[in-house]
Amino acid sequence: MPETPAYAERSWEMDERSWWDLWNSSWRAEELKDEISTELFEHVARLIDEVAPSGAPRILEVACGTGILSRGLRFSSYHGLDLSAAAIEIANKKAESLALPQGVSRPTYEATDFHEWEPPAEPFDVVMCVDAISCFRDQALVTKKLAKHVRSGGFVILTTINPFVWKYIRRPDGGKCQCGPVSHWLTKPELHALVEGAKLKLQRSYTIMPRGNRGIFRIINSHHWNRVLGKRGADTFKKLKERAGLGQYRVILAQKA
Ligand SMILES: C[S@@+](CC[C@H](N)C(=O)[O-])C[C@H]1O[C@@H](n2cnc3c(N)ncnc32)[C@H](O)[C@@H]1O
Repeated sequence: MPETPAYAERSWEMDERSWWDLWNSSWRAEELKDEISTELFEHVARLIDEVAPSGAPRILEVACGTGILSRGLRFSSYHGLDLSAAAIEIANKKAESLALPQGVSRPTYEATDFHEWEPPAEPFDVVMCVDAISCFRDQALVTKKLAKHVRSGGFVILTTINPFVWKYIRRPDGGKCQCGPVSHWLTKPELHALVEGAKLKLQRSYTIMPRGNRGIFRIINSHHWNRVLGKRGADTFKKLKERAGLGQYRVILAQKA
């Protein structure tokens, strides 16, 4: 989740829906320009291709925002939902002009609160929630619902800010670990407990995209290393940091029995 833009600061008084309308129409009205979200979305797209090698999964994305990730995915059908009506309006408008391969149905987007969402009868092959689980009021209920709507043998993918690293990212508001109506930033054990509580089998849990420029992180993530280590060395160092849990995002891949 990017830092709160200065022009959204007046937002602290807003209700949840209005805040997310503002966030989505400020940060996500255009296709992605920032490298952080681009890298995250590309990672998720690759992961879906890996777990659904047919290239034609039925996908549900919870908290899809303006649908940017959906426009970089391969699927046979895609349904996105989000609390923000403004986000869904943008997603629907963009979907009208999408050129789709034969046999692929046009993505659909729906403005709704996932806590109360009534799903279609047929379950999905992949259910995902990218950078949003921290925003839900009832995270245990949401994880159980994610699990409920995936088919047996299908996958749930979650990505969320790693609160341990987030603390070390210098932010314009002075570094508070907060951004918009965040309900609770989940630690690794908390995320694993949610997955277990939803009766999903945890397949992978890892961090990606090392970041942080405060304290020791300033040294660990210094650009200086790229120069000293060269491209290959820097790539290896990045992987080591990801393995050590120093990535900005945690990725969870879980499977339904
Ligand atoms: C940080 S944004 C991420 C959006 C999108 N995944 C992205 O990366 O661009 C969190 C999203 O969660 C959505 N959201 C928050 N609470 C929700 C709820 N109860 N039901 C559905 N969506 C919700 C917000 O509207 C917002 O678009």
